[in-house]
Amino acid sequence: MPSFEFETERLLLRPPQRHDAAFIVKLIGDYDVAKNLSRVPHPYSQKDADEFFVMLEEQNAKGTDFAFAIMEKSRGWFMGVVGVHLRDKGEFELGYWLGKPYWKQGYASEAAKRLAEFAFHDLKAPKLIAGWFHDNPASGHVLAKLGFLPCGVEQRESRSRGHAVYCNMVELPREKFGRQRKQAEAA
Ligand SMILES: CC(C)(COP(=O)(O)OP(=O)(O)OC[C@H]1O[C@@H](n2cnc3c(N)ncnc32)[C@H](O)[C@@H]1OP(=O)(O)O)[C@@H](O)C(=O)NCCC(=O)NCCS
Repeated sequence: MPSFEFETERLLLRPPQRHDAAFIVKLIGDYDVAKNLSRVPHPYSQKDADEFFVMLEEQNAKGTDFAFAIMEKSRGWFMGVVGVHLRDKGEFELGYWLGKPYWKQGYASEAAKRLAEFAFHDLKAPKLIAGWFHDNPASGHVLAKLGFLPCGVEQRESRSRGHAVYCNMVELPREKFGRQRKQAEAA
C-alpha cells in the first residue's frame, strides 16, 4: 500500500510512527479522551500502544485502514490520530481523537475534512460513515459541519466505560461532499 501524507493550513497528517507511542500513551490515557472511543482501554499502557501499532501494520498490509498522526505543522507537536476504516460495500468509517490540550481550536474539523477528501478522492469511497456517543456533542458538531447527516442509532461498546453506549450514526455520501465542495469554490 502506498504511504500517504497531507498538509493542511496548520496540520501535517502523516502515518503514525513507533516513536509517537509515548505521546499516544499520555494523551489517550486521559479518560475524557478514551471514554468517547469504542476500542480504547483505560488505563492505557505502553503495551496497548504496542498492540495498536501491530494492528495498524496488519490493517495497512490489507489496505483496510489508513491512520494518520495529527501533527501541528509549525511546532511539530503530536496531537492525536485521524483515520478511515473500510466497512461494507466500499464505505469507510471516519474516526479521530485529539489530546485534551488541543481541543476547541478547530484541529479535529481541519483534520477530518482532509481525511474526507482523501477517502472520496483517493480511495473512491461511495460514502463515509461515523458514529458519536450521545454525550459527546463536540464530535457530533465536527461531523455536522462536514455535512454528515443522521442515519440511525446503535449501541456501541465502550471498552473504557465497560458498557455499551448509545451511538448516533451519521453518513456523508460522496455526491453530497462533492456538491458542497463545488458550492464552496463558487462562493
Ligand atoms: C471530539 C473532538 C475530536 C473535537 O476536537 P476539537 O479539535 O475540539 O474540535 P473542533 O474544534 O474542530 O470542533 C468542535 C466543534 O464542536 C463545538 N463544541 C465543543 N463542545 C461542544 C458541546 N459541548 N456541544 C456542542 N458543540 C460543541 C465547538 O464549538 C466546535 O464548533 P465550531 O467550530 O463551530 O466552534 C475532541 O474533543 C476529542 O478528541 N475528544 C475525545 C475523542 C473523541 O471524542 N473522538 C471522536 C469520537 S466520535
